[in-house]
Amino acid sequence: MSASRLVGATIACLPGDGIGPEVMAVAQRALRALTPDLVLEDHLFGAAAIRATGKSLPEETLEACRAADAVLKAPIGDPEFDAADVRPEQGMLQLRAELDVYANLRPASLGSVDLLIVRELVGGLYFGASGVREDGTVFDTMEYHPSQVERVARRAFEAARARRGHLTSVDKANVLETSRMWRHVVREVAADYPDVEVEDMLVDNAAMQLASSPEQFDVIVSENMFGDILSDLAAAMTGGLGLAPSASLSDSGPGIFEPVHGSAPDIAGRGIANPAAMLRSTALMLDYGLARPNEARALESAVAVALRDAPTPDLGGSATTTGFGVAVISALAS
Ligand code: NAD
Ligand code: IPM
Ligand code: MN
Repeated sequence: MSASRLVGATIACLPGDGIGPEVMAVAQRALRALTPDLVLEDHLFGAAAIRATGKSLPEETLEACRAADAVLKAPIGDPEFDAADVRPEQGMLQLRAELDVYANLRPASLGSVDLLIVRELVGGLYFGASGVREDGTVFDTMEYHPSQVERVARRAFEAARARRGHLTSVDKANVLETSRMWRHVVREVAADYPDVEVEDMLVDNAAMQLASSPEQFDVIVSENMFGDILSDLAAAMTGGLGLAPSASLSDSGPGIFEPVHGSAPDIAGRGIANPAAMLRSTALMLDYGLARPNEARALESAVAVALRDAPTPDLGGSATTTGFGVAVISALAS
């Protein structure tokens, strides 16, 4: 992560699929108004890239992401490729692994709820050995090295220390070996953070607690798939997927900033997608990726104004994606 304010930075923009290009256009318009010094470069990724090059993550795109100061990513995914051998989602896991963005921060807040999910992003069930045995059995495995748990746990303790000092470590230690190791490592790291109160919670209970009393949570840290599922639930508890941003960070090198939601094929092409999650991810990029907190706060405030004045249909309003963007630009100008 950069320590000093990055001016004239290069942003690798991945417009992706479905509603991706629609919400990316709004984010880019906002950046051109707010931070005209940034260099925005579009690159092929996802289903669009498979159609053009046969690969979800073409080498050229990967190199551009590595060389950039930050990666701003819209969702990928297309039902056309759901059963194909080459799928958009593979490129996404590959990009995360290549950039080693192991700490995925997914904030969710509304009213008395204000929580942050720290999802381990480059290990666990989505990255273990998988395949088909001779007898036809298909397998995916959850694998972790203690060092992978330790580094994400440290990020979560740091985040909790800077917030309300409470960390919930979510696992399935009553069943899984990986979870028992996860618990052990979290306990060890906890010794370095005596100011943070840490609690273990089984993932099934965590889902129930999130749905029934989400205000109890400050920071949650969890395995890749558990965090994937719980972050959609946290989004649902705080206004919906249209609002939920994320920041994926490594120890050095560019982060990836993208909404929690997917390419929403059910509403793609209709101009009604809510661009707030994409814009909030852009604000996280300005903050964590480019060390420009003042502009990040300005963008967040402009999004709050647009949510009040020009809500999209998912929030019960009638604004279009572009209309929401216009409201953001005018709030930025005033
Ligand atoms: P989804 O998040 O795309 O959609 C779930 C529901 O939420 C849909 O009803 C959709 O219309 C709605 N929704 C999502 N974002 C919205 C927005 N900004 N404004 C208004 N409504 C919104 O999940 P899905 O349907 O399960 O997945 C669709 C595709 O997206 C799949 O191919 C999946 O793999 C992919 N996906 C990609 C990412 C990513 O690129 N980060 C994340 C999740 C899913
Ligand atoms: C997300 C998505 C991705 C994930 C998919 C599309 C690979 O669901 O970013 O939450 O599981 O990480
Ligand atoms: Mn997800």
